[in-house]
Amino acid sequence: MSFDLVLFGGTGDLAWRKLMPALFQAFRHGTLPEGGRIIGVGRDDLSDVQYRDQIHLRFDSVELAKRPNTEEFTRFAALLEFVQMDLTQPDDYTRLSTKLAQRQADTVVMYVATAPSLFATVCEQLASAGLNTPQTRVVLEKPLGHDLASNRAINETVRQVFDEKQIFRIDHYLGKPAVQNLFALRFGNALFEPLWRREHIANIQITIAEELGVENRGAFYETTGALRDMVQNHALQLLCAIGMEPPINSHADAIRDEKLKVLRSLKPWTPETLVQDVIRGQYSSGTIAGSPVAAYREEAGVNPHSHTETFVALRTEISNWRWAGVPFYIRTGKRLAGRDARIVVNFRPTPHAIFNSQMGMANRLVINLQPRDGLELHLLAQGQNNRRNSQTLSPVQLDLDFDKRFGSERVGAYERLLLDVIDGRLNLFVRSDEQEEAWRWVEPILDHWHNDTHGPRLYAAGSWGPSASSAMIARDGFCWAEES
Ligand code: BG6
Repeated sequence: MSFDLVLFGGTGDLAWRKLMPALFQAFRHGTLPEGGRIIGVGRDDLSDVQYRDQIHLRFDSVELAKRPNTEEFTRFAALLEFVQMDLTQPDDYTRLSTKLAQRQADTVVMYVATAPSLFATVCEQLASAGLNTPQTRVVLEKPLGHDLASNRAINETVRQVFDEKQIFRIDHYLGKPAVQNLFALRFGNALFEPLWRREHIANIQITIAEELGVENRGAFYETTGALRDMVQNHALQLLCAIGMEPPINSHADAIRDEKLKVLRSLKPWTPETLVQDVIRGQYSSGTIAGSPVAAYREEAGVNPHSHTETFVALRTEISNWRWAGVPFYIRTGKRLAGRDARIVVNFRPTPHAIFNSQMGMANRLVINLQPRDGLELHLLAQGQNNRRNSQTLSPVQLDLDFDKRFGSERVGAYERLLLDVIDGRLNLFVRSDEQEEAWRWVEPILDHWHNDTHGPRLYAAGSWGPSASSAMIARDGFCWAEES
């Protein structure tokens, strides 16, 4: 099957850091279908050779094991071409059209990795140039809009040009191996399903912590913040994967219907819960991995009096038969104590205690997304040192490390998702109604913050965020997993 992958934003940060390395990995693994072309699109005046050289140079910042050797790069580079375009100019789309017409590929992927303000323009222009053929798929990167209204406006324009089945809204968290394994754990094994409900689960914690700050994206981040950047999409998609009902089959719409139901069941915000159950923070200076780092307000492109949040912790509930009353805590932030993304499922304690035990760490399932990718089951057991007092149990852990189990050459998130687009598999992409529902749910928080002059609470870089985040969860009698 031949394909043309047109990469709008072909000289942008995402292309260098994620997309090209992912395409190269697919090429190296032999999973990229043969007979493909990757056509970078950008404003610069570059020849194909110059574009290839730039990509070659950028591979120097990719981790060593994922860098091509000279021979590999030469073969990969043969797939790469470049088209200079001003995305607002109709004539430039005619040139693209001529290029695509040189060979009628079976599948054409239009990957729009540009600023969201250009999504509608690009799609309209593609249609005017006759480039929205049935063989075409369009990939839209997040953030898809800034709020519900702008998200809807983008979706409406794109849907006038492409059928929903041609639209691949990417959330790279869905491509992470741990998320596939969460689906496998829940719907491929019968063991946990009877326990996966309010009768047995005390609370669920979703943490996406980063050590990185805003890097060179200060200006973008300043108008975005953690709620839009991470919660509206990645964290809510994880919550859906944990909370959804088993789909009737593995088709894309069956899965997306169930995720949508979760989003629709999220407890609506009230003036009280907006104050008590949502904590926003912003990093001040501190220490990460032994080195001092600057405060967010000192980053390039950031307002020195900024109120943009770099941390969010919140509490919500899924108001349905399975989950009523179970708190779901979400926490994400930059410049936190470690790079750590995981979902912690805390089961209820035994109804009656006959042993002395340290309950804190037990009765818990941890789904690790990164840096490790695996499952931990925390139980209580009799340790060998318990000769004197057999009534005392100690925490132990069953540990499944997927990288060790399946080898380190596993398929990365973008690699997996790019191959899914080329093959036309929509399961791991977000439907417009899911996305709109997620915006509808976060919007009251945005409005509340807009009217609240206090701004975010400061936290030291290298910590776990403002102490109010621990106080919020302590009100329910629980604590974050690392505090237990
Ligand atoms: C992106 C956000 O969607 O996800 C970034 O825009 C964030 O701010 C990144 O750093 C995190 O992704 P990952 O895969 O490194 O956890």
